[in-house]
Amino acid sequence: MLVLGLETSCDETGVALYDTESGLVGEALHSQVNLHAVYGGVVPEIASRDHLRRLLPLIEQVLKEASVECPDAIAYTAGPGLVGALMVGAGMANGLALAWKCPIVPVHHMEGHLLAPMLEEDPPAYPFLALLVSGGHTMLVWVEELGSYSVLGTTLDDAVGEAFDKTAKLLGLGYPGGPALEKLAKKGDENAFQLPRPMVNRPGFDFSFSGLKTAVMLKVREKETDGTLDLARADIAAVFQCTVVETLLARTLKAARDQGADRIVIAGGVGANRVLRAELTARFDGTVHYPRLRFCTDNGAMIAIAGALRLADADKPDTIHAMARWSLESLDQPHG
Ligand code: KG4
Ligand code: ZN
Repeated sequence: MLVLGLETSCDETGVALYDTESGLVGEALHSQVNLHAVYGGVVPEIASRDHLRRLLPLIEQVLKEASVECPDAIAYTAGPGLVGALMVGAGMANGLALAWKCPIVPVHHMEGHLLAPMLEEDPPAYPFLALLVSGGHTMLVWVEELGSYSVLGTTLDDAVGEAFDKTAKLLGLGYPGGPALEKLAKKGDENAFQLPRPMVNRPGFDFSFSGLKTAVMLKVREKETDGTLDLARADIAAVFQCTVVETLLARTLKAARDQGADRIVIAGGVGANRVLRAELTARFDGTVHYPRLRFCTDNGAMIAIAGALRLADADKPDTIHAMARWSLESLDQPHG
């Protein structure tokens, strides 16, 4: 079965074609980053309009490159995300499915992220612990099997990607800040000073990043007053990144011990952070799985594979699903 995957939940238009026999057949991505950069964050109205402009040409490109006329099923991101942006993908999926007379599968965006490592050569076996870290979510999830998810911990305030973006903004870096901050941190000293490590000594697995953001803001002000901010920028980036990585690691390793996990998956945009990947791989006894860099941030391939794994849920195109909020735990195993 050939599954076309459409991702339009935020600021990337992603399209991919996944073959249940041979794997990923083709994919294309259009990033809207440049459109939103001047505003310092994603503007929902601009995002929806750009998805509308880009989606059909990307679908045509992917099908043409794979010499496929039409797929056997269409998977699309149904949430969580920006509703206007989601509606573009959902509307397109339903329209094309009507025309092509094929079924559709609504996909949960975070399930897409957590299944992205299944696109790699050595996919994780179930059960596994997943650290899902993106611009909108920070979650530790125990994955018993496909569709059986227990959220062990989540953020009480900012998502970790958001903390990267806000800190990058304070340091005068562009949007999105994660990649730029990682690059700057390489030139800094992570031991230059200390920032508070939020909640590491508290029981449970929740995270909090807003205190860290305030601490960075105070440090930036202090350096500005001293007239030494330019010299200190790289150090601030390095200390911030190290603090975030240590916080994520403390919680993740503890959850892995508690659950007796042999495998950990890191996914979501912040999963592209090389320091996070390297530190977790070095310190965890079992195996650490993560998607290739390109499939950490939003993409169509993770939606196509999630749809392929959920073909039992495929349905007629008669309802458009677009949900701003949608709990991962409310998902079920594919039932048919
Ligand atoms: O998963 P994603 O593409 O979109 C959401 O679903 O939110 O994640 C985007 C987030 C942004 O906050 C971005 O700054 C962050 O992932 N990010 C990174 C890196 N690459 C992307 N954060 C830290 N280090 C990176 N290398
Ligand atoms: Zn995402």
